[in-house]
Amino acid sequence: MELTVKQMDPEEFTRQRQEVLAQWITGKDVDFEEAVVYHKNIPLSKVFAHKLEEGKRQGITFAQPRAGVALLHEHLELLQYLQDEGGADFLPTTIDSYTRQNRYTEAQAGIEESRAVGRSMLNGFPAVNHGVAACRQVVEKMQVPVQVRHGTPDARLLAEITLAGGFTAYEGGGISYNIPYAKDVSIESTIKYWQYVDRLVGLYEERGVSINREPFGPLTGTLVPPAISHAVAVIEGVLAVAQGVRSLTLGYGQCGNLLQDVAALHTLPVVAEEYLKKLGYSNFDLTTVFHQWMGGFPQDEAKAYGVISWGATVAALGKATKVIVKTPHEALGIPTKEANAAGIRTTKQILNMLKDQTLPMTKELALEEQMILRETRAILDKVLELGEGDIAVGAVRAFQAGVIDVPFAPSRFNAGKILPARDSQGAVRMLDFGNLPFDTEIKAFHQERIALRGRDEGRDPSFQMVIDDIYAIGKGMLVGRPRSKEAGLRWSAFEERGAMSGISQCEIK
Ligand code: 5AD
Repeated sequence: MELTVKQMDPEEFTRQRQEVLAQWITGKDVDFEEAVVYHKNIPLSKVFAHKLEEGKRQGITFAQPRAGVALLHEHLELLQYLQDEGGADFLPTTIDSYTRQNRYTEAQAGIEESRAVGRSMLNGFPAVNHGVAACRQVVEKMQVPVQVRHGTPDARLLAEITLAGGFTAYEGGGISYNIPYAKDVSIESTIKYWQYVDRLVGLYEERGVSINREPFGPLTGTLVPPAISHAVAVIEGVLAVAQGVRSLTLGYGQCGNLLQDVAALHTLPVVAEEYLKKLGYSNFDLTTVFHQWMGGFPQDEAKAYGVISWGATVAALGKATKVIVKTPHEALGIPTKEANAAGIRTTKQILNMLKDQTLPMTKELALEEQMILRETRAILDKVLELGEGDIAVGAVRAFQAGVIDVPFAPSRFNAGKILPARDSQGAVRMLDFGNLPFDTEIKAFHQERIALRGRDEGRDPSFQMVIDDIYAIGKGMLVGRPRSKEAGLRWSAFEERGAMSGISQCEIK
């Protein structure tokens, strides 16, 4: 099958479907026609896309946790708790790592072992092994919509089973579930796997069943320049809508600077709609999701609540439709249900208090928005040029050429040439542009902001800044400041500027 953005050939879909459903024994329980009827009986209050649209109309930001354990009864108990005690607006079912890698035999062993020891020995819910009927119990027992959340390069069987199982939303995409998660899987193959998933969703949509699709926005975390994650989000959005997806939620992960993050949230639907329309698609409902800090977390729970609160604040001020919530156990591993619910309650408190507030449009905010739009358009236009109008082909060629380049990605199909670094205010800029197709004006903007930081810190911009930024969060800071004595001599000049720009003393330690 040749790679193209165009809708999958029905014969090819049917051929693949037979293969996919045979990958594990539970595949035989998938009956599409029966699943359509099942979905039509799900009350609207539990349909993901419906609630998202309602929230969008009312300007509400919803809160959603991540959660998943090995055994069905424990998973039900966990989700019920997050709904009732955490007040989750949407629920997840986070899938375990074996299932993400299509290792169902090992997932089965994890289930058996969990039964034997009486606690979860998997880091998520192995939905393929549990099968369609178990998934339906998850959906039926909850009062709010439930989504599948994972990180799976080839998620075709998982989609068949969970969607037949009544889930009304499905996370992931051919780039966003490849580049940050896999080392050796080609982008061409994952785009094709995800076109199957999107086409499956399209088939449900054609039968009047609404399934929300959400590409994974944050990619590798907190140092991804917004234009890069936006470009990937738009490509995955186009790929999805081209297969018949209607309800599309595009994501962005918190970088840490208020203005840049709010500007990113404002511009994401703008640039997505612009390219979808330009490419001839009009039948879609677009919403946004903001991810609270996807980087390292403090072990101290009090400090973790600080990080969670900052994310909640930005989600509210940026008017995201939904925010994915972290927990005070983030630094430790899989959270207890109590810690998970506490993260949701913290988040919802802030969302409630800020729901009537907006950030005024200042010169600075407008500049951030303009820059993100210009950079994203530069990347996307080059992608379309490389693909001779076909965004699927263009995406593969763009990764090859480094026209899209995700920092710190494990994939060998990613160029890995760009270097991000924070400016003095913590906004993510670029120290090295690699092969990003930016004009001299865009480049000058980044260079200027990073030079200003260099001046503040009394050092030339270099790779050391990138390293310091990566380690900064471990020290409780956003920007990685040097500790050297020489730099210390210049603190007075920095303090002056810091005071002027609102950077507090404690950040300079
Ligand atoms: N339960 C709760 N959170 C989870 N995460 C991954 N698996 C689970 C799970 N089973 C969270 C991690 C991290 C994010 C990528 O997903 O803690 O925050």
